[in-house]
Amino acid sequence: MRSLPVLLLLSINVSAQQRGLPSIIPEPVEMRLTEGTCSLVCPWTVESREPLPASLSGSLYAEIDALHPDDRIRCEVPVRISLNLIQPDTVLPDEWHQVSVTPDGITINAIAEEGIYRGSRTLIQLLEQGRASGTLPCLTITDWPRFPWRGMHLDACRHFWSVEFTKKYIDLLARYKMNSFHWHLTEDQGWRIEIKKYPKLTEVGAWRSGSQIGPYSRREYDSIPYGGFYTQDEIRDVVAYAKARHITVVPEIEMPGHAMAALAAYPQLGCTGGPYEVQRGWGVFDDVFCAGNDSVFTVLEDVLTEVMDLFPSEMIHIGGDECPKERWKTCAKCQARMKTNGLKDEHELQSYFIQRIEKFVNNKGRTIIGWDEILEGGLAPNAAVMSWRGTEGGIAAAKEKHNVVMSPGSHCYFDHYQGDPANEPLAIGGYTTVQKVYSYEPIPAELKPEEHKYILGAQGNVWTEYILTPEHVEYMAVPRMLALAEVLWTPKKKRDEKDFIRRLESDLPKLEAMKVNASKSLYQVSILPRRGKVAGTIEVQLSTSASGIIAHQEEGSPDWFGYTVPLVLDSDTRLRARSEKDGIVGPVSERQFMFNSATAQQITLSVQPNERYNDGGAFTLVDGITAGEKRVNTEWLGWREGVTITVDLGSEQDVRTIGIGALNEPHSWIHLPEQVEFSTSRDGKTFVQLGSHKVDPGVGRRAFKFDVAGRTRYVRLTAKHPGKIPEGLPGAGNAAWMFLDEVEVR
Ligand code: ACM
Ligand code: ZN
Repeated sequence: MRSLPVLLLLSINVSAQQRGLPSIIPEPVEMRLTEGTCSLVCPWTVESREPLPASLSGSLYAEIDALHPDDRIRCEVPVRISLNLIQPDTVLPDEWHQVSVTPDGITINAIAEEGIYRGSRTLIQLLEQGRASGTLPCLTITDWPRFPWRGMHLDACRHFWSVEFTKKYIDLLARYKMNSFHWHLTEDQGWRIEIKKYPKLTEVGAWRSGSQIGPYSRREYDSIPYGGFYTQDEIRDVVAYAKARHITVVPEIEMPGHAMAALAAYPQLGCTGGPYEVQRGWGVFDDVFCAGNDSVFTVLEDVLTEVMDLFPSEMIHIGGDECPKERWKTCAKCQARMKTNGLKDEHELQSYFIQRIEKFVNNKGRTIIGWDEILEGGLAPNAAVMSWRGTEGGIAAAKEKHNVVMSPGSHCYFDHYQGDPANEPLAIGGYTTVQKVYSYEPIPAELKPEEHKYILGAQGNVWTEYILTPEHVEYMAVPRMLALAEVLWTPKKKRDEKDFIRRLESDLPKLEAMKVNASKSLYQVSILPRRGKVAGTIEVQLSTSASGIIAHQEEGSPDWFGYTVPLVLDSDTRLRARSEKDGIVGPVSERQFMFNSATAQQITLSVQPNERYNDGGAFTLVDGITAGEKRVNTEWLGWREGVTITVDLGSEQDVRTIGIGALNEPHSWIHLPEQVEFSTSRDGKTFVQLGSHKVDPGVGRRAFKFDVAGRTRYVRLTAKHPGKIPEGLPGAGNAAWMFLDEVEVR
């Protein structure tokens, strides 16, 4: 009884490392040390009581064998590694397994092959860790997942990925016990799956004449032909590869929108008849499948028939996101369909479209899943919803007793920045650190306990507009995927961010050995400003999610100083910070702080920002950091309505100008305030209206300003919301986003 008394004495917060337990990701349900150690240096025999299928045993035996410590010695008794299917006396999930390390060897017991496979992922991580010392502590791991859908997505359309890389990606999912691979195969920029009945889908639709390059706002394109597609044999190969790893491949065939590549191949499927082009640029396009033309349904049903022959997945993803209704509004066929079927608007026409496809798919014994827009106009009776525009769609669907996969942009979009954008490769936007992913709770608080079962799990999405190489896909997916894998596998009460980061750090060298280009943004120092204790000062907290020593430097100083307590700033400062561990210096983070009379003063808002763009709260507007055109959530605040901002300067003072910045990025639905009104007050009660300012709508960051001459203590800015996005612009008809940052009073 070496370890048990120790375990009993220690609190449950003691990390696994301190308890001498190996690091496993995702953290198992239960891991207990038992007596003794298991030496791994003798030759191994891998065996099972009953023969396992070749698909499982073949590659598994080889994989295990490759992890034997290098210094093989002669032994009388080999180390026995046994993989056994057992008959349980209670009901257990198929993925349930028990891994026992004893002095004689290692045993995996499971009730189904799937459980053996998942247990073998734990075994691999154990053997990797036992390799150096040649031993493992004896232990018993009992494990099963929290959620049945543990997914990762990959966009093979904006950029195309070889079969070889796709398999490497699937290997990564498998390593962390993910079980669903959502393969995004059709888009405006390319159709990537061979369909025998409609060869032009790939002959024409798989190729574009160039690609958009650089940040979206520049609207620059190259003219290098780009494309590729998977033959049906290749698809079958990938599906079989995933199946051997107990991963379901869920294909996505986009409809009715994101269909430009298909329309370029078969223009008769669009409302206007074309001509259409496979798109070079990113975004949302008005031309979509015509919903009034029966031959569109014939073609899509033929396509889905071939797709269902290739993919055994019970669920088929039919897209459904971002479908503009412009063409339908003026198409005689679409309007006739609405009339005949008593559909009151184009949302109901979309719903008709999805329901008709659902019926076809259901008749083949499968079900559909679609992005949350399929809720608009009425949800198809048996459809599952993938909630990406926040969690509202998922909540609504679960309340209607529909299955849901959560994939909100806030936590599950791995195309977002994962560290300070200044140090990251160009991304679409957002700011989703590995810790933010780890903090994700897939079950929304709004659901009643009896509705929880509709949340099947969650999925990380890797859209590839700004991702051009396999190494970059890996960089964006790893390590955030590991955090999501743990969120989805490990019981909620066992989740421990600090311990996860420690295990992640010990996994990074193994990923490197596997030639996986994991992001090290974890080592990046985050520079977090907050209001200082003394009015007008900013306290800056420096932190990293990894262990390591943090150092900081001010511009102009050659020295780096160790960081211990928050730094207090009261004047313009360019701050740099980095972390060091074991001689490895992480990337440098930088922030420019600029002080004005409003900086770090009390601020109140008439309306809080929308939750999607409110990471830093009201203080963001007076934190000394001027938001840039890389849209970082901690720098900009976003509203879909007007707002009045009041700043108390702390004392009466002479003021010359009052101003605020706003962002104009119409392609992202972000528009300038119609105008900003300015007023001042000496007592905070009676405000004197000074006037207002409109600016010419150039793209990018724009300043609204007003010249004042006089003394005041309170300043007030009212940003008037621009209203609905005008016709002809992306998102027309929707409420515009209004992004504001940094009040300036001088
Ligand atoms: C999506 O990101 N358009 C589903
Ligand atoms: Zn039409």
